[in-house]
Amino acid sequence: MSTLVTGIAELVTNDPAAGPGPLGVVPDAAVVVADGAIAWVGPASGAPEADHRIDVGSRAVIPGFVDSHAHLVFAGDRAAEFEARMSGARYDGGGIASTVAATRAAPDEELRGRVRALVAEMRSQGTTTVEIKSGYGLTVADEARALRLAAEVTPETTFLGAHVVPGEYAGRPGDYVELVTGPMLAACAPHARWIDVFCEPASAHAFDGEAARAVLEAGRVAGLGLRVHANQLSAGPGVQLAVELDAASADHCTHLTDADVDALAAGSTVATLLPGVEFSTRSPYPDARRLLSAGVPVALATDCNPGTCFSSSMAFCVALAVREMSMTPAEALWAATAGGAAALRRRDVGNLRPGSRADLAVLDAPSYRHLAYRPGVPIVRTLELPPA
Ligand code: NIG
Ligand code: FE
Repeated sequence: MSTLVTGIAELVTNDPAAGPGPLGVVPDAAVVVADGAIAWVGPASGAPEADHRIDVGSRAVIPGFVDSHAHLVFAGDRAAEFEARMSGARYDGGGIASTVAATRAAPDEELRGRVRALVAEMRSQGTTTVEIKSGYGLTVADEARALRLAAEVTPETTFLGAHVVPGEYAGRPGDYVELVTGPMLAACAPHARWIDVFCEPASAHAFDGEAARAVLEAGRVAGLGLRVHANQLSAGPGVQLAVELDAASADHCTHLTDADVDALAAGSTVATLLPGVEFSTRSPYPDARRLLSAGVPVALATDCNPGTCFSSSMAFCVALAVREMSMTPAEALWAATAGGAAALRRRDVGNLRPGSRADLAVLDAPSYRHLAYRPGVPIVRTLELPPA
């Protein structure tokens, strides 16, 4: 079964072979989808016939967003912590413990329902690929449960047992790292594609460079790809460790030294910026222009989680990136689609090249620029296609 999508006022392909610029923009375009994949892309005047036809009515179409960083398996609520931050309280990761307690206490069905509701909320806003981390269980059974539930809805699952040192290991971080790299990793690796660690020596709750290295190296031996929560609250070893170990992504990158930027520029690790976190923690934004000028590949993601950013909206991140980090609308859209795919080392999503997955998002607008131009307005949705 094939479907011809017409009425596309402006098509963003992220394929420089299809049109000008890194976005590969095609005006007055059409797309043919077959068996869930892109079969043809080009000017509407040259479109072939297909079994079905969908007219999107002179709207812009973009690749579905790739949200490469989210923490969706949790219970509880931290609205009061958010409220306190808005009146000046600082974020240091300490609030994670309350989500851990609520998550451990929640039955499977509650967690499953919450994850599915958040993924549906994302999809309704144009996100077609999402990475989901564990990290609110922090026991062998609770981390494995979180990853099993995440794997029901995405192949991009990340073991984050090294999120914080849980209360029962207070003052014994070395013992907890042994648990994470031993029995917890063994139970979680079958359900995970990635391993991640919150490397933040300045936080009393997170992990220093030595512990982060132990976690990442153990994950690699277990066959997992690497990602790092790096340099969120202060400059530290996370970014350079990520590059040295060829992690797919260093996430946050809010506090960078020149040596960090040089390392990212020389390596193949993507810098994933999460501006919703700076918004929701009232913190200074990362210097996206410094990274882009150095030639570092940049991704944007939501970090959707109950503590530092309870937003599932990639369009919101794009608007923040443009308004607060001086990214151009084109750079921000690329980072939220192709950049996210690069951060997950995927070539089949984040673009609309022939052969890629048929993940199309429609804007209630004539141009992708409206994503930042109309902040807070729900103009983007995933295009649901007839079943293959
Ligand atoms: O990406 N920094 C560590 N982890 C999350 C926050 C988790 C939480 O506060 O619940 C983050 O910001
Ligand atoms: Fe995070």
